[in-house]
Amino acid sequence: MSENLIIADGSKEERYATLLPQLKALVESENDDIANMANISACIMDTFRFWWVGFYRVIDGVLVLGPFQGPLACTRIKKGKGVCGTAWQNEETIVVPDVEQFPGHIACSSLSKSEIVVPVFRNGSVIGVLDIDSENLGTFDETDRIWLEKVAALLDK
Ligand code: SME
Repeated sequence: MSENLIIADGSKEERYATLLPQLKALVESENDDIANMANISACIMDTFRFWWVGFYRVIDGVLVLGPFQGPLACTRIKKGKGVCGTAWQNEETIVVPDVEQFPGHIACSSLSKSEIVVPVFRNGSVIGVLDIDSENLGTFDETDRIWLEKVAALLDK
């Protein structure tokens, strides 16, 4: 396992392109989900300095807070609730340019302005979500969706 994260000093695309193979190497050598989600959160945070980066895991039919980087967050989210619960229910990534425009958005922090939630699949079922919040409006776009879905896919093993 590499002990130092290399962070590209360039565009969003270049940063993801440098990050992904390092995450792949980390996850390939470890089977524990908590360990992998913790390192993925840390590496995304180190690379982009987003407001909040973390995972919720499906446990007994509810999303339960998992490994994350950032401030205190709500611990349980029901299916269909908030951005996370909706991404889980719809089984697809949701990009929210302005959280105030998303009906039912769960405000863990009033400082969060935009968000992306990516379902994590294993053998065709959603086992959790990767949630990233930004303190700026419109932070996330198609580039983030494409790369973060590749990141989530690393856990499908
Ligand atoms: N905003 C999310 C809740 C989780 S926090 O952002 C960490 C939602 O609406 O599901």
